[in-house]
Amino acid sequence: MDSISSYDLVPYESYPFAHLHPARLAATAQLRGMPPPPVHTARVLDLGCGSGGHVIALAGFYPQMKLVGVDLAAGQIEQGNARIRELGLRNVSLHAGNLAVGLPEGALMSSQGFHHQFDYILCQGVYYVVPEAVRSGIWKLLQMHLAPSGIAHISFNTYPGWKLREVAQDFAQFHAAPESPGAAQEQRVREGLAQIAALSPLHAQGLTAGYGLSLRAEAQLASQSLPGLLFHEFLSGDNQPLYFQQMNQAAQAAGFFYLCEAGLPDAWPARVGVAGQPLYALAAGNALKFEQYLDFAMARTYRNSLWVRPEVANRVQNALNTWPDQALHGLQLPADLSLGQSGTDAQAAFLTAQGTSFQVPVAQAGILHALVKKPSQTLWMSATSLLDAFPDCAALLHECVLRGLVGAWHEPPSLSMLKPLEAPAWLRLEALRQASRYLPTIWHQAVGLSVQDRQLLAACDGQISAQSLMQRDASWQSKLVLFERQGWIRPAQ
Ligand SMILES: C[S@@+](CC[C@H](N)C(=O)[O-])C[C@H]1O[C@@H](n2cnc3c(N)ncnc32)[C@H](O)[C@@H]1O
Repeated sequence: MDSISSYDLVPYESYPFAHLHPARLAATAQLRGMPPPPVHTARVLDLGCGSGGHVIALAGFYPQMKLVGVDLAAGQIEQGNARIRELGLRNVSLHAGNLAVGLPEGALMSSQGFHHQFDYILCQGVYYVVPEAVRSGIWKLLQMHLAPSGIAHISFNTYPGWKLREVAQDFAQFHAAPESPGAAQEQRVREGLAQIAALSPLHAQGLTAGYGLSLRAEAQLASQSLPGLLFHEFLSGDNQPLYFQQMNQAAQAAGFFYLCEAGLPDAWPARVGVAGQPLYALAAGNALKFEQYLDFAMARTYRNSLWVRPEVANRVQNALNTWPDQALHGLQLPADLSLGQSGTDAQAAFLTAQGTSFQVPVAQAGILHALVKKPSQTLWMSATSLLDAFPDCAALLHECVLRGLVGAWHEPPSLSMLKPLEAPAWLRLEALRQASRYLPTIWHQAVGLSVQDRQLLAACDGQISAQSLMQRDASWQSKLVLFERQGWIRPAQ
């Protein structure tokens, strides 16, 4: 089965990807010592965009961005363009085309005029499932269209982690028949994997020790996988993982340099985690070799790597302990922490939005208390003002950002053009679309919402009174707090 029909036949759900939000990529770049490309006015190209779930959400929250998506599957492109038309978005367009032969006509010409360079070029979930001609086409597109100070992202499945996963992949291919591609086939694979994993002994000795555990982990992952994922990663035969060093060689041959992984803490692994420093020594201080040693140690299965042009790479700091001066200045930090439970008076406990708990000395905790979420309060805090208010806590804040406990954004979306309690027009239309399965949040996540809550959100047009909201929904006040936290409406004050 070729790739055209495979993605039209078994579409891949298209979501916003929080870790690929330009505001987060720009912040990561700044933390690595690179002047970040613009965000609010960014030009963004998504290669292999599916039906555009990532770029459409960005277009809504950033009316001045210019976004273009390209994908081979014409059906997915049409589906995405229909959504764009329904939402009335004018700064995003999707185009059908084959990355092996360049950008399709029209991709460079949008309603905002001609632009042939992009500040961010993203390629998520494509490189490792396409033939060599498409891979080299992707590098050529980066050569032609990445702005001099731009950031390119290419994700790929990696060895050695996939060596372990290949057993489950082989099993899936062996067991998939007689079902034909689709939901029933994926279900058969999920069930078969769960059965074989349950039958595999946990206490084998020698070389097979760990085999049962590994199969159980695969069965667990498969049970949670999104529709389409098992087909495209396990069954289609397209998936070709790579070692980091192979990918790095391809990048260098095309004239690109490795910056870091998208998102913290992966972007600075030598600084965090117990394995960082010994592995860095094993790599004799070579930052690129370190990345490969890290994958061997961690059995990594996937990377979200960022690539830049040589002129940028020369300015970026790779050394283990160098933290650029002013690294946090100008960044915005999400005020999304919650208070946790500490067993001792000397420590204060916090919970991240992802549910990770951590503790810091009480004397230093003030800077983090400022980032604890409160109703009707700003969604972000300026790192500069926090550091001015708590100058003695700079090291703690740096550490929390490096470890990914506190997020870092450069130019997050602004709701200032809205009236209090108003949701943007495109989002109100999205809330009422029958075809929409989720609503994108300001944090660039996909959140499901009941029909009743969608209707309440759609009513938030900046004109409606508290009284009429109450008539629609008795629990409207708590729902408005939720809408505010998702960045769907501008807070009342
Ligand atoms: C695994 S999906 C990833 C989609 C999206 N980026 C995401 O992560 O949700 C791979 C995508 O690559 C597209 N694709 C495969 N070969 C392609 C080619 N030669 N040119 C353009 N797109 C291609 C497929 O149609 C599919 O939508």
